[in-house]
Amino acid sequence: MGQPWPHHSPAEPIALQLELLRPMTTLIRNAWYVAAHAHECSETPLARTLLGEKVVLFRTPDGQAAALEDRCCHRLAPLSKGDVEADGIRCRYHGIKFAPSGQCLEIPGQDRISPKFCVKHFPLVERDGLLWIWMGEASQADPSLIVDCHWNVDPAWPAAHGYLHYQADYRLIIDNLLDFTHLTFVHRTTLANNAFPNAQPDIEPFERGIRLSRDIEGVDPSPLHKMGGDFTGKVDFWNRQVWWLPTVFENWAGSVDAGGEGPAHERPGGFHLRHFSLLTPETEHTTHYFWIQPCSFPKPHSDLIKKVKIGIDTAFAEDKDIIESQQRVMAADPSIHPKGISSDKALNMVRFMNERLLKAEAAALAAVVPADSVVPSGPPR
Ligand code: FES
Ligand SMILES: [Fe+2]
Repeated sequence: MGQPWPHHSPAEPIALQLELLRPMTTLIRNAWYVAAHAHECSETPLARTLLGEKVVLFRTPDGQAAALEDRCCHRLAPLSKGDVEADGIRCRYHGIKFAPSGQCLEIPGQDRISPKFCVKHFPLVERDGLLWIWMGEASQADPSLIVDCHWNVDPAWPAAHGYLHYQADYRLIIDNLLDFTHLTFVHRTTLANNAFPNAQPDIEPFERGIRLSRDIEGVDPSPLHKMGGDFTGKVDFWNRQVWWLPTVFENWAGSVDAGGEGPAHERPGGFHLRHFSLLTPETEHTTHYFWIQPCSFPKPHSDLIKKVKIGIDTAFAEDKDIIESQQRVMAADPSIHPKGISSDKALNMVRFMNERLLKAEAAALAAVVPADSVVPSGPPR
């Protein structure tokens, strides 16, 4: 005999309903996510899975970027195998054409087209060199919620950028980005300075996430900061970070020669990084990791931004190695749970906040689902 079903008293359906409001997914849908770097989107359709949904991204010849479900509504062929035309994308199978809005424009050999014969369209905003997509309830897609990344397209800020595909739950990458004590150990040749484990950030929650700030004075610069700032001695280091729920990490970091007057980040001669890590779950277990790194160098040199990219690529490969290894260990025995230490504070706060968003989405979904499909009818007899 297997485990018997529990018997429920009449008072228990409420508890049961609440239990059923626990998120069945780890993916938050009502948020702006980066679907692609803008330069990735062209007249050649790009197939990408985002939050478990297959999406095709393309750009019409007039420059308009669009995102549609990657499934023709006729015989379900992927639209990403199709051809972009002036006003839309034509399915490669039987030639049906769809506008960037998802509306069907043409069915070869058929005059009448039902308005219901269409494909799903996703809100898409091109801004700051990035394509932001909204995978959730379209009526909530407010572009003013998109995080400001304008440094990425400011000529005064040469920018490096990149992309990694992770075989890992996006939440493990959030954990990594919100605990910089790992820099000293994972990034010995790139981002490390020895002070991180003893320099816990100040953390301040706000309605859209948390802010972290950290100042470290009189420290050896990390290899990356030493190169970017051409420093020869000790530096004063700062970072001002924002975790924007659910998955955007903003990190304004920098160094300046140690010992000057006033706050380090306001002093002349500093090396500034305006980094953004932009995580988009591909599935529950895999993640698209986009990053941009606009820089301001105290002594500009045309090669420096290329060297920054090499440094970040190296460092992020180090993160990927440890996080994907961690994911494999966790997957091998999900019954084993991590134990906490004090430097987990920020990541625990964001995990809690994201969990709250998931529960709110589950509750909203339950509110539109008929009650008899929410409350189970009872144990099998
Ligand atoms: S499957 Fe797309 S036109 Fe037939
Ligand atoms: Fe790292």
